[in-house]
Amino acid sequence: VTASAGDGAQSFRVRSRARGYEVVFDDAGAWVERVAREAQAFTVVDENVLRLYGEGPLRPMTAAGVVPLPVSEERKTFDSVAGLADLATRFAAKRNVLLVSVGGGITQDLTGFLASTLYRGVRWIYVPTTLLAMADSCIGGKTSLNLEGHKNLLGTIYPPERVIVQTSFVETLSEDDYLSGLGEVVKLHLLGGARATARLREELPALLGRKAGAVRGAVAGSLAIKRDYIEDDEFDRGRRNLLNFGHCFGHALETTTGFAIPHGQAVTIGMLLADAVAVERGLLDAAEADERRRALYLPVLGLRPSLDAGQTAALVTAMKYDKKRVGEGLALVMAGPGGDAVRVDDLGEDEALRALGRLPGLLQR
Ligand SMILES: NC(=O)c1ccc[n+]([C@@H]2O[C@H](COP(=O)([O-])OP(=O)(O)OC[C@H]3O[C@@H](n4cnc5c(N)ncnc54)[C@H](O)[C@@H]3O)[C@@H](O)[C@H]2O)c1
Ligand SMILES: [Zn+2]
Repeated sequence: VTASAGDGAQSFRVRSRARGYEVVFDDAGAWVERVAREAQAFTVVDENVLRLYGEGPLRPMTAAGVVPLPVSEERKTFDSVAGLADLATRFAAKRNVLLVSVGGGITQDLTGFLASTLYRGVRWIYVPTTLLAMADSCIGGKTSLNLEGHKNLLGTIYPPERVIVQTSFVETLSEDDYLSGLGEVVKLHLLGGARATARLREELPALLGRKAGAVRGAVAGSLAIKRDYIEDDEFDRGRRNLLNFGHCFGHALETTTGFAIPHGQAVTIGMLLADAVAVERGLLDAAEADERRRALYLPVLGLRPSLDAGQTAALVTAMKYDKKRVGEGLALVMAGPGGDAVRVDDLGEDEALRALGRLPGLLQR
């Protein structure tokens, strides 16, 4: 069945200038046997996923041979790709190799970068196992590596030929990682407009309880919204940029806290801060910002970091390293009323510092 993404859809296509690709929902896990039988498959699995599922649902694949991948932001580097490339080039299938990648966003970034550069590009299939990867990163085709502690400075655009989504993987995620995925789900639904946002608010209790139907619906809904933003702007020139809502402050927060805050939770804090700036600039009603804060941001925030003066200053410095920055000011995406997003390039350091000063209050219930 091919249908548009939404409840009940079994698969949908994402158009891409490079090559269109397919997202398939496979709740029963039939993909495992198929991959295990594929002689050309060079399979890389997140080490933690392998520990949890390797002797259970992923057993046929494990038996056929997989490479366990240790994941952390510190290891999302060129060196790790080189290590994988070394293994891959010893693999018999060589140029006909089919790279199969199973894991979260870090696994996706590392293996996607490998897929795009190995022999100038090999076929690959990606199976996201975190909520963040299922609902957000698995489409869009971006791969990224960190460089000298700075997030995602190296990268390519190289979508897998197929994404296979089995939402039951979320059952074993830590609460912090699950909430991290919900941060991106909230972001996408806000950008999806008032109706999508209202739907999410209704589903949030079930979603927080990881109810299967709610997870499936939120993943499909998020991907449908993201697809809309990326299809006509694959190379990140305009509209796609708006998906960076929450990420301007968010990435900087990740950097300055040494990645102690999971990505999506940093994004949630980034949305709180972007809203604070938007309110100050008169782009967003204080009441709507507070609604979002109470109904959407705080429920999906597990960590409530406090920043000292040194960290706050370092955070603003980190924002200057934002690779999307073009002018003298700092870049910021804000979501106005009904999620109508705008990007500015003239955020002043003083403005950023004022928003950061308000953070402790914004984090209070
Ligand atoms: N390429 C893109 O378009 C894109 C988009 C958004 C984010 N990202 C990147 O993705 C990364 C974050 O991704 P993430 O949150 O998936 O992190 P992750 O890949 O580090 O996974 C988080 C943790 O969950 C573990 N894990 C994975 N699946 C599990 C499962 N089913 N059960 C239990 N544990 C499991 C992992 O081992 C890891 O410890 C960041 O580096 C971010 O920059 C990339
Ligand atoms: Zn993100």
